[in-house]
Amino acid sequence: MIIKSAEFVTSAVKKSQYPPEILPEIAFAGRSNVGKSSLINTLVNRKHLVKTSSTPGRTQLINFFDINTNLTFVDLPGYGYARVPVAVRKTWGPMIETYLSTRKSLKGVVIIMDIRRLPREEEQNLIGWLAHYSIAGILVLTKTDKLSKTKLIKQQAAIIQTLAVAKEDVILFSAKTRRGRDAVWDAILTLTDLKKDNAV
Ligand code: GTP
Ligand code: MG
Repeated sequence: MIIKSAEFVTSAVKKSQYPPEILPEIAFAGRSNVGKSSLINTLVNRKHLVKTSSTPGRTQLINFFDINTNLTFVDLPGYGYARVPVAVRKTWGPMIETYLSTRKSLKGVVIIMDIRRLPREEEQNLIGWLAHYSIAGILVLTKTDKLSKTKLIKQQAAIIQTLAVAKEDVILFSAKTRRGRDAVWDAILTLTDLKKDNAV
């Protein structure tokens, strides 16, 4: 995948702050600290396009990025981190739901989960929201480099069972080893209809 440009566009909390809906858009969602920003950086081959942090809950705005001037990536704030102030946690739901329910250029949401944790209520809610709004989801299990092969297979099976999906429906990923990068790109290009010209 040739990345010619990857640039920060803007941050938004409310709808009036979103950029115009010109390009097909893919959003990235997941628990705080799961590795959303790292995944985006891996996809676009940039170490620091999106700020990553070992402190969870750092990304609290909806951040828009332009990729090759033909695709938009959206880094959504992470959920489920208890130490984020209550006021911030309360705005997360409406902020995300407004985005998901009104963004017409949104072609799909990459749902990022830590392979070491079973999906919980927040993941099920997110998957439910997407189904409700007929938005495609790409399920990604990240930080696979942190598990042995045996443990990885066991966790993968448990997560698939919890989500009631097929093995083919989840992509194994690691920002450290770049495992699964091509598979995630493939899913994104298919959803955005950019696959045929490989334009990204
Ligand atoms: P918030 O924006 O705070 O919600 O976090 P985030 O989901 O964007 O996570 P981020 O990409 O900032 O990564 C959090 C921490 O996990 C950082 O210390 C990353 O270096 C680390 N990390 C992310 N992905 C991986 C991975 O695949 N493998 C390993 N070993 N570490 C990872
Ligand atoms: Mg982040």
